[in-house]
Amino acid sequence: MLDLYNRPINYLRISVTDRCNLRCTYCMPETGVTLLRHQDILSFEEIIDVVKIAVQSGINKVRITGGEPLVRKGIVSLVQSIAQIPEITDLSLTTNAILLSEFAQPLASVGLHRINISLDTTDPLKYAKITRGGDIHQVVKGILAAQKAGLQPIKINCVIQASSSEPDALAVKQFCDNLGIQVRFIHQMNLGSGHFSIVEGGTGGDCVQCNRLRLTADGKIKPCLFNDLEFDVRSLGAQKAIAQAIARKPKCGTFNSNNHFHNIGG
Ligand code: 5AD
Ligand code: SF4
Repeated sequence: MLDLYNRPINYLRISVTDRCNLRCTYCMPETGVTLLRHQDILSFEEIIDVVKIAVQSGINKVRITGGEPLVRKGIVSLVQSIAQIPEITDLSLTTNAILLSEFAQPLASVGLHRINISLDTTDPLKYAKITRGGDIHQVVKGILAAQKAGLQPIKINCVIQASSSEPDALAVKQFCDNLGIQVRFIHQMNLGSGHFSIVEGGTGGDCVQCNRLRLTADGKIKPCLFNDLEFDVRSLGAQKAIAQAIARKPKCGTFNSNNHFHNIGG
């Protein structure tokens, strides 16, 4: 469906959990993250219901995010249910890949098409520092498992500080070239600041072309990452929440004072 600014809205990003098995410094505080209550998190039935209604408004592309989506119990069965909706022609997932060596094959088998993996450095010590304890060897195993499972394309999301020619970014680029996979550089952002930028090699951050809606783990449809507007599927019903989010999708992002990357999935 076209929004007020003639943008075709066909892409839904679904955050399935606000939990994560890492604590990246730019995403989460080390301790004291306020987590959603279990009853506030949408059930799989509720998520599938939202997707089925969203396809009636023209959504044909879905991405599963978190938090870390692979920590949500039953994630493979959720992916399977979404993959079975015929209108969904592009189904992807964004993960930190810590658990991916276990999940790549099952996810591919139930119909996941492709995967994005977060990796900001190739140095094991630096990786552990950025993620506050993550083991980069798990990530590498996960990437190889994704290749073996035939998930394609595999894209690496690499958060950069200043430029895509800084040493960590170059090393990640080299690593990806060696494996024949793509890399996208994302400038580190702060949702509350109003400063955001276009993803190099991706489609995020370009308001004129923005085709997205987001569904938060607690059931809010958000028309823009850089805006506080949200429409609750539980109180409005999915149909109204989606229609209102499309109708009120801002022309351009400004700032978001309510959400954090760990509960909205970037
Ligand atoms: N700025 C930019 N990207 C971020 N991500 C998480 N926090 C930030 C931030 N502050 C990225 C992750 C992941 C994607 C879902 O969002 O690295 O690749
Ligand atoms: Fe977890 Fe991703 Fe946030 Fe890192 S950036 S803490 S992997 S949700």
